Amino acid sequence: MTASASPRALIPLPASVVWNPNAFRLSPQTRIVWCADLPEHAEAMVRITTLLTDRIRTATGFPLPCGENRASDADTILLEVTTADWQSPACSNPARADASSEAYRLTVTEACVRLVATTPEGIFRGIQTLYQLLPAQIDAVEPASDIDWSVPCCVIEDAPVYAWRGMMLDVARHFHPVATVKRLIDQLARFKFNKLHLHLTDDQGWRLEIKSWPALTEVCGPVAVNGDPGGFYTQDDYRELVAYAGSHYIDLIPEIDMPGHTNAALAAYGELNPDGVRRDTYTGIEVGFSSLMCREEATYRFIDDVLREVTALTPGAYLHIGGDEAKATTEEDFAYFIGRVCAIAATYGKTPIGWNNFELAETVPSSAVLQMWQNESPKAVEKGMKVIASVPNRAYLDMKYHEDYPLGLAWAGCVPTDVAYGWEPSDHVPKALLLGIECPLWTETAVTEADIDQLVFPRLLGHAEVGWTPQALRNWPDYQIRLRIMTERLRLQGIRYYADPVVKWD
Ligand code: ACM
Repeated sequence: MTASASPRALIPLPASVVWNPNAFRLSPQTRIVWCADLPEHAEAMVRITTLLTDRIRTATGFPLPCGENRASDADTILLEVTTADWQSPACSNPARADASSEAYRLTVTEACVRLVATTPEGIFRGIQTLYQLLPAQIDAVEPASDIDWSVPCCVIEDAPVYAWRGMMLDVARHFHPVATVKRLIDQLARFKFNKLHLHLTDDQGWRLEIKSWPALTEVCGPVAVNGDPGGFYTQDDYRELVAYAGSHYIDLIPEIDMPGHTNAALAAYGELNPDGVRRDTYTGIEVGFSSLMCREEATYRFIDDVLREVTALTPGAYLHIGGDEAKATTEEDFAYFIGRVCAIAATYGKTPIGWNNFELAETVPSSAVLQMWQNESPKAVEKGMKVIASVPNRAYLDMKYHEDYPLGLAWAGCVPTDVAYGWEPSDHVPKALLLGIECPLWTETAVTEADIDQLVFPRLLGHAEVGWTPQALRNWPDYQIRLRIMTERLRLQGIRYYADPVVKWD
């Protein structure tokens, strides 16, 4: 065994870490056991324990017996879901009633590792911390030899500041296949994100099969920006994504953008247009020219069918209905339309989410959620709406890192890695109304998986910490040291991050 341990770094930084001397060492005899005081958690705990065991077995080549057992004996990793005998770590956000569901305590001694939470979800978040405490080779796909499989002794008490820590991927401008989305989900899970929002429809493409309106994907599945190749998810593909995300404790949020950004629907069906004639498909990147007909019942029959089918694929509580840049819709029509669509979402038991300016419509109930892509929203605050902060000159992953950067756009300015790390959502919206944050990747210029990697990494890691870690603990000089260590791990996993020169890399 070699004595040199690779450096460890935690991102997002936990709420509390106490380092102790010495380390726990994985050995061929190490047992991985779980226990839960509620039978309903057993299935999830078997699944999570299997995930953890498979990962450590693959990297170490150790046999690692595992199973249900309450004892935290020597040479054991114990995963324990319990409501007794344990106070979940305090959460610094008064808006979070459910703070404890993702909280965990990880105690590492020389003898054993004990991870405790009140839910399997908390265990899942805590395991991501455990991976980061293991040597980088834990992420190798082949067993590594000569590794000191040590975990530094510590006590970590952790809970997120914000309940909503999301990323958005636009699959409408350029389509990205199931495998790419799963690979992204793997990374989101590592950094404790819990939402992935898919922007499924826009002027260019329609990316989700709707069985009652098949021409949507027949006509506009193949279309993408610049005439690049398109694609779409069958409902089975989408179910597969929902399940994969769910197994990582990530909700998939579907977005059907309307009443603007709807040229794909208008190109697929003549009956959605005032003259009954299908529009041409569109491969440009200008916005604001399309609108559904807001006063025609044909439009609402269409939307009802679409949202019914999307709801059937969506176990989560939310449907994103877009609402942005409806420049071809009058203010009155917009308010009428958004009210109707919020009501349809409600009939399907879902909470609608919309981009600005949907909150300005008096028809939008205060129970709806604003995804804020402006600096502030006095109207949402006045209405007491919950807000997801996606401030473009902070959170947009498709803004260039700097002016000469080849990918991305710059209409909101450039977003270097330090800016993506250093923002604070409560500077924009009172904390009590903040559900959390989301960093969107619009894909006008992101054609390949490598393009996605470059735009997303390393900025995603900064947003992870903005969403999870109390602001008082966030610190750019310290973060750069951790980021350097973490990007080395990303490299080992084949993630082509951008070595942004604003980061001190050595
Ligand atoms: C947006 O960037 N149009 C929400």
